Amino acid sequence: MGGTTNIFLTGSTGYIGGTVLQRLLAHPERESFNISVLVRNAEKAKLLENFGVTTVVGSHSDLEKLEQAAASADVVFAIADCDDLKAATAILSGLKKRHAETGEQPILIHTSGTGVLADNAQGKYASDLVYSDLDIPLIETLKPTQPHRWVDIAIVEAGKQGYARTHIVLPGVIFGLGHGPLFETGICNQHSMELPTILQIGWHRGRAGIIGEGRNIWPLSHIDDTADLYIVLFDAARKRKDVACGREGFYFVENGHFSVYEATKAVGHVLVELGRAKTAEPTPFTPEELDKYFAGVQVLFMGTNSVCKAERSRALGWRPTKTKQDMLESIRPEADALIKNGRIEDAFHIRGLLAQYVDL
Ligand SMILES: NC(=O)c1ccc[n+]([C@@H]2O[C@H](COP(=O)([O-])OP(=O)(O)OC[C@H]3O[C@@H](n4cnc5c(N)ncnc54)[C@H](OP(=O)(O)O)[C@@H]3O)[C@@H](O)[C@H]2O)c1
Repeated sequence: MGGTTNIFLTGSTGYIGGTVLQRLLAHPERESFNISVLVRNAEKAKLLENFGVTTVVGSHSDLEKLEQAAASADVVFAIADCDDLKAATAILSGLKKRHAETGEQPILIHTSGTGVLADNAQGKYASDLVYSDLDIPLIETLKPTQPHRWVDIAIVEAGKQGYARTHIVLPGVIFGLGHGPLFETGICNQHSMELPTILQIGWHRGRAGIIGEGRNIWPLSHIDDTADLYIVLFDAARKRKDVACGREGFYFVENGHFSVYEATKAVGHVLVELGRAKTAEPTPFTPEELDKYFAGVQVLFMGTNSVCKAERSRALGWRPTKTKQDMLESIRPEADALIKNGRIEDAFHIRGLLAQYVDL
């Protein structure tokens, strides 16, 4: 892919999308990129334009805009909502048009999550079923009803048809505060989902909470390592045609695992330090609390196992550096930031997000 690279990115104001966008803005080949981003908020669009990107003001519901923006792109980063099949279909339709018009195979780097691997442990055990991103037959045993899976299947199908080279990035639990100019100017969300949720709910109930015994385990990655994988993949796919895509295009983001108990206990220590809890030891949520905080839905990371090895990602040259220890140490700064920006009180944020899975 020589000359100018036209890039379209969704999720530009988000935690992952904002971090990836910053990497593109700082990329050594930046001068050859035309970057266009989807933004819901018109004021944030203006601020983003100051960074030299073109904005498409709209949402995932503006399917024609999505299709058109994808049809103008050589590379699409989809980092807004891994469960939105209509939006993914519109992007794929745009890429198909691009292929028909240019004869080129545009590149899609779509974001999913290792929630697709989730079991029904309810915190009772750590699973020994380990998925590798190289083991496609095992991934193909996942039911279409697994979280995110219905969208992943559509992406793989498009890749098989050959009009686009499709890649799916699957993070587990990402940790660390988003940082850099897009975050400091308040454009992008600096918080991940999982540890902030455990903190917010622990803050609200005055003690860290777990589902069952919290023995279940999840993969972890730092936000900077996570963004690195997107860029490693972007660089490789632009330069080489043999980068795994389509049926084989699965890239886990994993640099070790943690049990939900150990993360929650570390949250408990922070709550004690902050004078919000008397003991660090977590207690199981009662049925009433499960309903109150989680709408009765088994929240992906709280009660389930998701165990994987990022072997394809590493084989491509991805070298994550931040470990479980870094994750545990990230909890206090995360809490301080949530307190500073007032979001520590938002214990019901996750319940709102779960609305798509349950009739509240
Ligand atoms: N964080 C993690 O640990 C993690 C792990 C695995 C998978 N994921 C998945 O990765 C995706 C991004 O996660 P994130 O942590 O970056 O979330 P985030 O910080 O909430 O960012 C989401 C981004 O997508 C945008 N967006 C959401 N819904 C949209 C819609 N309907 N139309 C247009 N834009 C929309 C948001 O725009 P606004 O600013 O307007 O809200 C924001 O820019 C999600 O699907 C998430 O489930 C996250």
